[in-house]
Amino acid sequence: MPTIIVHGGAGADPGQGREELRSGVRAAALAGWEILAANGRALDAVEWAVRALEDHPRFNAGLGSVLTSTGTLEMDASIMEGDRLGCGAVAAVSRVANPITLARRVLEGGRHVLLVAEGAHAVARATGVPECDPAALVTERQRRRHVEGSRVGVGGTVGAVALDRRGTVAAATSTGGMAGKQPGRVGDSALIGCGTYADNTLGGVSCTGDGEAIIRVVLARQALAYLKEADDVDYAARVAVDLLVEEGRGQGGLILVDWRGRTGWAHSTPLMPVALMSPALLEPRVPF
Ligand code: GLY
Repeated sequence: MPTIIVHGGAGADPGQGREELRSGVRAAALAGWEILAANGRALDAVEWAVRALEDHPRFNAGLGSVLTSTGTLEMDASIMEGDRLGCGAVAAVSRVANPITLARRVLEGGRHVLLVAEGAHAVARATGVPECDPAALVTERQRRRHVEGSRVGVGGTVGAVALDRRGTVAAATSTGGMAGKQPGRVGDSALIGCGTYADNTLGGVSCTGDGEAIIRVVLARQALAYLKEADDVDYAARVAVDLLVEEGRGQGGLILVDWRGRTGWAHSTPLMPVALMSPALLEPRVPF
């Protein structure tokens, strides 16, 4: 049964502006769902759902990404398809509006899994992914946060996981990273197994939150190990987030789809915008 779930990042509750987050994740779930409903691939569905969130200025990915300690932009993204464990990732890119599409080009290249900075930009040029001025991706909100030195709240990272009619699972994650990070820092969102994982025999996962903590516990892959153990998506999501907090020593959350199309999610932060869509629903469910 085709299914998609998206997240808009685990973090603080902004109080005001929740409606904007709700409509953002809802639109992203619909963008992916249109592809699945037309018999399309889960890989396309997660790419286009994440692109919708990268294009939305309220989320920390693509347009609206947070800035490094020196005021620059360095974005990470990864994407994975679960039938042949095909994966691609980019890190520390600054000149593409949709890093997830660049990660997909790396996947399609088939030779490497992770390319960084200028190496990744060279793939953009070689494969026709449009490059832009990094300044065009910096919003007034993030510029102000940088000037104020604000690092309030984690997350804002975006992600999607889907299952298509062929039984293929795909997962994708994209982020500007942590506000005020040291230039050159790479987080979990670029690392297969940490921020993103998909395996048709189990399911797919996209994580959000404190990247260093997520890396410590290899969170996405570990969530699928819990799923294998218990065959329960809610249990797997909850226990994985407990692991993140207790062993990883950080906060965050994740979304999950298993090979049968069951969705689960959990977070340790006050808020994690989520939307999901499946044939049983008439319109996306936005449970936050
Ligand atoms: N989870 C996003 C990051 O830490 O970069």
